[in-house]
Parts: sequence; C-alpha cells; structure tokens
Amino acid sequence: MAFISQKEINDIRNAVSIVDVISSYVPLTQKGKNYFGVCPFHEDHSPSMSVSLEKQIYKCFSCGATGNVFTFIENFLNISFSEAVALVADKAGITLKTQIKIEKENKFQEEYEIMNFAMKFYQNNLNSVAGEKASIYLQERGLDLETQKSFDIGLSLDKNVLGNLLVKKGFKEKILEDLGLINNSDNNIYDVFRNRIMFPIHNLDGQVVGFTARCYLDDTIKPKYLNSKETHIFKKGNILYNYHQAKDIIRLKKEVVVVEGNMDVIRLYASGLKNVVALMGTSITKEQIETLKKLRAKIILMLDNDEAGEKATYLNGNALEENGLDIAIVRLNGAKDPDEYTLKYGISSIVENIKNAISFIDFKLNYLKKNKNLDSSADLADYIKAVIENLKNTDDEILKEVTLQKLSNEYNISYAVLKEQLDHNNKKEAKEVLPSKEKEKKKKSGYQNMIDEVLYYMMNDPIYIRLYQNHLGIFLEKENRSIANEILYYYETNKTINLADFMTYLETIPLKAEIMDIIENVKVNELSENDMLELLLRIKKHIKEQEIKELKEAIKVEFDIHKKIELTEKITELKKEV
Ligand code: CTP
Ligand code: MN
Repeated sequence: MAFISQKEINDIRNAVSIVDVISSYVPLTQKGKNYFGVCPFHEDHSPSMSVSLEKQIYKCFSCGATGNVFTFIENFLNISFSEAVALVADKAGITLKTQIKIEKENKFQEEYEIMNFAMKFYQNNLNSVAGEKASIYLQERGLDLETQKSFDIGLSLDKNVLGNLLVKKGFKEKILEDLGLINNSDNNIYDVFRNRIMFPIHNLDGQVVGFTARCYLDDTIKPKYLNSKETHIFKKGNILYNYHQAKDIIRLKKEVVVVEGNMDVIRLYASGLKNVVALMGTSITKEQIETLKKLRAKIILMLDNDEAGEKATYLNGNALEENGLDIAIVRLNGAKDPDEYTLKYGISSIVENIKNAISFIDFKLNYLKKNKNLDSSADLADYIKAVIENLKNTDDEILKEVTLQKLSNEYNISYAVLKEQLDHNNKKEAKEVLPSKEKEKKKKSGYQNMIDEVLYYMMNDPIYIRLYQNHLGIFLEKENRSIANEILYYYETNKTINLADFMTYLETIPLKAEIMDIIENVKVNELSENDMLELLLRIKKHIKEQEIKELKEAIKVEFDIHKKIELTEKITELKKEV
C-alpha cells in the first residue's frame, strides 16, 4: 500500500476547483463571489449551500454542513476519505497507485510503532514455551493457528518484560504509560497486561491502537476482559472490532453482521462469515453509527441471547433507525452468544438465521410485550401506545399501515382509532421538533464567539496567526488553547495555512468536531487586520477583567492584611491596563 503525504493531498486538492467538482453533482448558480445550490445533506428545496471559489470550501447555512472538496465527495458518495482523495485525483488527471493509504495521524507514528511492537512481542510469547497453556486454551476454544494469526492473537507473560524491553529500545517511559502499556510506581515500571490472552484492537485504518485482554488460567479472574485505557490513539467508542478486515467484503455484500464481542467476530470470521464487526460492549456510539452509515450496507443486529442483549437490540436498533440505517434483527435461541451458537449448531445455522432475520418493528412488537399482561386493559393500552410511539422513526408508510392493521386484527381495536393516535403523535412530534432542533445548537457566549472568530481567521491566513502570536498568544480555556495549538502546529509544519487544506488535516486529529463547529459558527465575512487586532484586544481585556474578578474574590477570604494590600495593588495595576 502506498502512502501519500499531506502535501501531496493538498496538491491534489489544488489541482481541481471545488466549484467544478460540486457542480458535477449539484447544480450551482453564481451570485457575486460565491456559488449557490440546494444542499444535498438535508431535505431542502431552496439553495442554502454556498460554495466559495476563493476559499475552496462549501457551507450550508441551513444544516451547517461544511468542508472542502474531499469532505463533499466523502459525504455525497458515502465513501472513505482515502477513496475521496483518489477520486478527486482521478478528476484532476493525477495518477495514483491503485491503492493509496492516507498518512493519517502521522503525529502518532511513534505510538503506532510501539503498539505494533507490543503486538509482535505478545505473538512471540504465544509461540514460545511460556505460551503452552495459552495455546492449549485457544485450541480448546477451537481457534486454530490460522485464526490466531489472522487476528494477531498473542499472550502477555507473568513477568514485567514488555515495558523494560521497550525502554531498552529507547522509548520513553512517559509515552509507554500514556499508551496504557505500563504503570509506573516507586520508580519501577510494571506491565499493565499480565497473564492474559491479548487481542489487538485495530482502528478503522488497521493500525493497532489498543488491546482487549482475556484471562485464561482461571475463569473467575475479574475483569474477564481487561481493555487498554483510552489514549490519544485509542477511543473505544470510535472502533468497530474487525472493521479494517471486513469493510471491503461488507461493501461487496452490502450487508454487515453486528455482534457484541470480539470472540463472536473471531468465531464467525473463522467459520467463513467474514462481513462481521463487533461493538465490543452493548451500546452503540454515535461514531460507530457514522462508520456503519458510510458502508451503505444493511445491518444485521445479532447481539447476545440474554436480557442485556435484548435490551441492547432495542436501544441500538432505535439509534440506528433514527439515523436512517436499514436494519434487521436476529435473536439466537439455544446459546449465549453467536460464538457458542456456532459451536453448537454450526455456521450454516447462523446463515439460516440471517436469512430469516426479522424486521426491527417485528422485534419491537415482541419486545414491548415483555412483562406485560395483555389480558389487562391497562397493560394492553400501554402496549398499543408504545408500539405506535415506536413507529415514528420509520418513514415507510406501508410498514406503518401493515403494523397498525396487524394490531387492529390481533387485539380487535378499530384501525381508525390506531391511525388517529399515530397522526396525533406525529403532530405533537412536529411541534416539539422545531424549537428543540434550534436549541440543539448550544448558544455560545459573546466572548466565545469572539474567540471563534479569531481561531477561524487563524485557519485562513498566516497574517492572522502572527497577529494572534504578537498580541494575545494564549487563551485561558483549555479547549480554545488546544485548537490554537493545532493551528500553530499545522502552520509550523507546513509553513503556510489556508482553510481548505486545514480541513483535510482535521481528518487526522481528535479535535475535528470542535473545529468544524467553529467553522460553522463563524459567518464567512471579510476581516481586516484592524478588525482582528480589535478582537484580540477585546479578548485580552476580558481576560484581565476575569483576573480582577478572581482577585476580588481572593481578597474577600484573605485575613492577612499585607496580602490584602498586595492583592489590591495587583488589581489597581490590572485596572490601569484594562
Ligand atoms: N467486555 C469488556 N470488558 C468486560 C467484559 C466484556 O470489554 N469485563 C466486552 C468485550 O469486548 C467482550 C464483549 O464485551 O467481547 C462481550 O462480553 P461477553 O459476552 O462477556 O464476552 P464474550 O464475547 O462472550 O467473551 P468470551 O466468550 O471470551 O467469554
Ligand atoms: Mn462468549
């Protein structure tokens, strides 16, 4: 796989005009300096999306969608970032190797190297004499050598070896600690993972970013699975276990089986069902939903056979449905989870279950009945109301109709009454949705708005970065500071900055959402250097006033008269500056 640098990506972006590219998908009309079109990212008929030729970005004033040419392609065609870059390159007539790999998070090269080393180390342990018992455990669970290898399964030992080895190789203890591989106490380092079967966790791009580690010597050890802590590179909620190995086949089959545990994935995959990923727990996250959405595949939700799995099916199913994903449900009877079910009944039976997957609403019709006595009028009424309430997320009118008909027949209730209840809910919903959607965008303070403007213009032109450095230099708030640091980092490494390229860089860093939020928040206006200076001074004044406030508070609780005087003098000093 060929790697491609940030600079090359910027060159590709520069080789096309965003106006040309977008207008090949969405008609645009020129008005003044900008181009306008109907935004494809929300239901709309009026042209609320503006495309800036000068800035090479697009922005929708209605739904807030914003980005550069890659973001547009990525979201419009529902493809990955790498694929979007390849497609734009193609449009620009730039030939790339057949498969490119975006040099994502190159800031974390060292972290990846370490995690990769750890993985190899654990794998070696498993093949050594010390790995005999673990090998037997895995064989007994029916995971042959080939499977062990394709999931990079390894073993952590009884002794503190890994940390010391990595230190000897020249890595700093601090970074090993940050990565959750070692603990440091009394100047001794200890391996975090000991005596466990090690399952590496890969991020969506296939880099090893963490481990989930199972006890094997004694099944009563708690926790059964010990996971890497959250780190710069490991955010559990962003990950779908096995995504990197499964994504191509998922796209091909247009179907993805979603299970709870990594063992379920390994079993199914090893048995030949390869379009499978795991949530690694029970509740699905926003990020996982976004990832699944991009696959454009039907989702088969196949969670554990216990009550928690059933509840998770209901909650996750709703979350997926609300996001417009196509789902079907499998409930496996006769075994605890897909892993055990496969061992007991064979993979062909799993495949059969998938073929017979039920619709989500059919699952809910059953689920909502649980713990209700439908012979009681009150329970029955509750049940009917709950089912109707649950129909609100589908916009499949036929499905709604069929379901109401079913209820009407089964419980002998007039169809008209059910329909009325559904319409009533929809109306109520419509009323509630409008104000709450507006509320959703949390209101920022005037002060934060000023900071957003400063940060926004810093992303646009180095002139503003220099003004910031010379006249302010730091923000009080941690998040603002981190964002400023990202901008400065980008500027330092690239010696230049513009919004469109900086947006590409955002793909690779954790603060993406916060920075996109700023870009959405700020109106695209011209800003003179004097305006910027004015903003910086106002922010500075605000910071000083804040300090004065804090000093006044401190005086109130200070008993020492000398210290009181000292504080008062400081205030006078600050007041002069303000
Ligand atoms: N899990 C976890 N921490 C735990 C228990 C579970 O992170 N203490 C996650 C693991 O990713 C696990 C999943 O939740 O794969 C499902 O848990 P469970 O059903 O208990 O494990 P199994 O997948 O059945 O694992 P095994 O068959 O090895 O017992
Ligand atoms: Mn299991």
